[in-house]
Amino acid sequence: MLRLEEKIKDKSATIGIVGLGYVGLPLAVAFAMARFKVLGFDTQQKRADLVNQGKSYIADVSSDSLSSVVTRKLLEATTDQSRLGEVDAICVCVPTPLTTTKDPDLSYVIQESRAISKYLQPGQLVVLESTTYPGTTKQVVLPSLESSGFRCGIDFYLAYSPERVDPGSKDHNVRNTPKIVGGIDPRSTQLAQLLYSQIAGTVLPVSCPEVAEMTKVFENVFRSVNIALVNELAHLCEKMGVSVWEVIDAAATKPFGYMPFYPGPGIGGHCIPLDPYYLANKAREFDFHTRFIELAAEINEHMPYHIVFRIIEALNTRGKSLNGAKILVLGVAYKKDVEDTRESPALKIIQLLGAKGAEVSYNDPHVAKVQLLHDTFMSVALTEECLSSADCVVIATDHSNYDYPYILSKASLVFDTRGATRGLKQANIVRLGE
Ligand SMILES: NC(=O)c1ccc[n+]([C@@H]2O[C@H](COP(=O)([O-])OP(=O)(O)OC[C@H]3O[C@@H](n4cnc5c(N)ncnc54)[C@H](O)[C@@H]3O)[C@@H](O)[C@H]2O)c1
Repeated sequence: MLRLEEKIKDKSATIGIVGLGYVGLPLAVAFAMARFKVLGFDTQQKRADLVNQGKSYIADVSSDSLSSVVTRKLLEATTDQSRLGEVDAICVCVPTPLTTTKDPDLSYVIQESRAISKYLQPGQLVVLESTTYPGTTKQVVLPSLESSGFRCGIDFYLAYSPERVDPGSKDHNVRNTPKIVGGIDPRSTQLAQLLYSQIAGTVLPVSCPEVAEMTKVFENVFRSVNIALVNELAHLCEKMGVSVWEVIDAAATKPFGYMPFYPGPGIGGHCIPLDPYYLANKAREFDFHTRFIELAAEINEHMPYHIVFRIIEALNTRGKSLNGAKILVLGVAYKKDVEDTRESPALKIIQLLGAKGAEVSYNDPHVAKVQLLHDTFMSVALTEECLSSADCVVIATDHSNYDYPYILSKASLVFDTRGATRGLKQANIVRLGE
């Protein structure tokens, strides 16, 4: 029987991808395109069926590329976890959400570790990709897998390798984004490095899983803190009558020591609003308070409230009140050009506006309907009538295919939370950070 190393090198290894979502599906397709046989696992039958029909439900994966690997029998999906025993390497990409009290919810990782342990085969490599706090691979996954009676580094191999996908990005993908790998032991690191080097241009081994886990959360904390900093600056600029957008553009001309971040209505998606809490929570075990993380979260989570306050002010200046006003929100995805609404600040804004008596509708070319508490909202067509009848049009997400000059020409008042209209000087624009 060939060893895993040879099987990866000659591409006879079968790769199991657990969790076929925003992270897992692109990864599965990347391995299949590198001519590995891939078996994808998901608990949702509908997702497994769609994959097997070559129909993509993730914007970053085209149905063309998915069906091309499915028809060549390089990718198959299943909900049957007992088939974990058929694969040589397993990449785990299950969700790592927060509980309602913002504590890490590792239930998906724990449940999957138990399933893998049940079907573990000698020589298998298991890699956790889900974002989590430092220590998860060693303290949570390892004991679960070793409860099978197999020993890590001898009978099976275990590593952590964070996913760094940038949903919606045309520039960055699994292939051109360096991959970090940290194994429980040197052999696990070596095998994980070999595996990912089949699909990624650069694979950087680090000394242990904790370094890889900390690297991922640090990257997201870095974004959260810098976004909070520029959101705070936006508040100050409003008070001082300075345009934060002009300041950022000017600062960005400095060729060293500066990197632009932009203010907005808050943070969304499955990473930036959640991952810092994983680290903050773990830090408390060490009597350590991560003040930057808490402060950034406080500032960023306050942004939807600030936006609603500014909308109230803008309506008030025009002799109108928010109660009874018709508000059209443009964009409910958490960032431009994606269809993902998880943790989207636009949803919080819609909720807050509705609670104050506004009549809220939305348009999003990427999101046909959205569930908010007990209500289902459907995207309305962006007609002249719908723009001109709104008391305020709120640009919550700056999708590229919005025609901003057209929107401004039809709406009586536009509140721009993203700087999408910067450079335009019409009197009907009110912007965050100005
Ligand atoms: N979305 C991103 O941009 C991004 C980027 C980097 C890292 N991550 C991290 O990657 C992980 C996955 O995120 P995602 O956005 O892909 O989530 P997702 O919700 O899009 O996909 C997760 C999938 O896992 C499936 N699933 C849940 N439990 C399962 C189980 N036991 N077995 C098989 N399938 C199971 C779900 O049905 C779902 O299809 C998270 O830890 C996240 O923090 C996400």
